[in-house]
Amino acid sequence: MTSSPQPLPPLRILRLVASPNGGASESLKLSQQILFTLAIKAGRRGIELTDFDLSTLAAVDALYAQTLANQSVVVAREPGDTLGRSDELIEQLLRCDALLIATPMHNYSVPVPLKAWIDHVVRVGKTFLTTARGKVGTLADRPVYVAVASGGYISGQNARQPDFLRPYLSAVLATIGLNDVHYFTVEGTAKGVESLTAGREAGYAEVQAFFGSELKMAM
Ligand SMILES: Cc1cc2nc3c(=O)[nH]c(=O)nc-3n(C[C@H](O)[C@H](O)[C@H](O)COP(=O)(O)O)c2cc1C
Repeated sequence: MTSSPQPLPPLRILRLVASPNGGASESLKLSQQILFTLAIKAGRRGIELTDFDLSTLAAVDALYAQTLANQSVVVAREPGDTLGRSDELIEQLLRCDALLIATPMHNYSVPVPLKAWIDHVVRVGKTFLTTARGKVGTLADRPVYVAVASGGYISGQNARQPDFLRPYLSAVLATIGLNDVHYFTVEGTAKGVESLTAGREAGYAEVQAFFGSELKMAM
């Protein structure tokens, strides 16, 4: 009797949701488009989605700040402290095959909940090491897809504001070893209905174009 090959486990996707706008969030809607194409790409393998609403995440506490600053061994742990939460969030990140981030631009950069997640997972001695060559990430690389929504324009000739979000996020993810980062945007959401519609169309087309070409390459 010949045994049939084991099916591949589902593609594990961790989605971070950073918008305060719930179901109305434009970045969330854009991330849905990405999820949809990832599901098609996964085919029979399927996807396993873990959704994490970052609004539930508090800022880091004093014990965590002091432990990281001194790179010391922690002795006094409190139930539910930042160090424990940090361990859990790093474990959660390590378990995923692909990271999907749905985020609005807030004041040219990442919103507070996403910054709180970054402060929990970008951790010296754990997700990066300080060496003579500088900081070296410890994570195995994996794709990161970022769905960004902005009220104004941040790309091309219409951009009239700085964009610290994309360079910052790329730098901080590279610090822990994640270098394969792809951005998709819905821009001009605050500039009226026509602009919003055009922004959605452009963003969703970006997703199609990117995964369409990847799908062709994989065939
Ligand atoms: C506190 C705050 C700051 C914002 N700062 C910017 C900004 O710097 N640039 C910009 O283009 N839009 C800015 N916006 C608009 C949002 O990026 C825009 O409404 C976006 O579509 C929200 O996406 P979401 O629905 O996924 O939350 C800001 C919105 C808020 C609430």
